[in-house]
Amino acid sequence: MVNLKGKDILDGGSLSREEIDCIMDVAGQFRAHLEKQRSLDLLKGNVLAALFFEPSTRTRLSFETAMHRLGGSVIGFSSAESTSVSKGETLVDTIRTVDQYADIIAMRHPTIGAARVAADAAKAPVLNGGDGAGQHPTQALLDLFTMQTELGSLEGKTLVLCGDLKNGRTVHSGVEIYKHFKMRLVFVAPDALRMPVEITERLRGLGVTVEETSDLAAALKVADVLYMTRIQKERFADPAEYERLKNSYILSRELVDCSNPRVTVMHPLPRVNEIETAVDDLSGAAYFRQAGNGVYVRMALMALILGKA
Ligand code: CP
Repeated sequence: MVNLKGKDILDGGSLSREEIDCIMDVAGQFRAHLEKQRSLDLLKGNVLAALFFEPSTRTRLSFETAMHRLGGSVIGFSSAESTSVSKGETLVDTIRTVDQYADIIAMRHPTIGAARVAADAAKAPVLNGGDGAGQHPTQALLDLFTMQTELGSLEGKTLVLCGDLKNGRTVHSGVEIYKHFKMRLVFVAPDALRMPVEITERLRGLGVTVEETSDLAAALKVADVLYMTRIQKERFADPAEYERLKNSYILSRELVDCSNPRVTVMHPLPRVNEIETAVDDLSGAAYFRQAGNGVYVRMALMALILGKA
């Protein structure tokens, strides 16, 4: 029996297969519901605090949309500059204060581990909306939901993850989710941006099939899903190193047409130049549908965590 009531969602690795399946199931129910009716009042009277210490479009707005669609209310901020953090308030004091106002907290912060600090300080459950180059578990769950929607069963499918696998928090959380689904994982990155070796080794130790290459064209030929990621400029200490690596992979329409026109292309967004806009009208270009799925998955998470689903 799955019970997510009160659970913090801080990383991909703390969710069991049963919990993941439950979240996917409830997200599917909310999608079906919203196709008939624009909102429901399941979380009427509940307040979400959306605390974004770092820029966001999709994560913040889809959390807010999810709470509005569930009949609840939203408070929060979209940058630390507008809060008392700019006067020197600590993260712990901010969270202990917000805890007086909200029933559930969604948070993004530039520091790895900040969501854990917040969860330790708050009575309200905390959902990590991205902590530096660490984790982004709600994105990974909506990515899984998108793959299941686009492909059906994932067993035996090949998922190619490409780009900045060192700093990309969506892929760090993602592999902790995908490991449950008997998929073949192919990591495509320049040497300097490879998936951290401790993650790769741990996955292999669990029996997950993991391959590594720097050759996107070759990987694309065998991909059922190509998950592109942005080179994470904000995580580079040396601007020259970013300049050297920023154009490592650019997915062109020609490359898709020649290599694998049936591939499902995903991206957590925002993109810079790593997917050319000419790819957008391919039937398999799923990245804007993926962004839309964030609402259903975050509705499911909040309803389950608040004990209403
Ligand atoms: N995918 C994602 O996290 O997008 P935002 O940075 O716009 O929230």
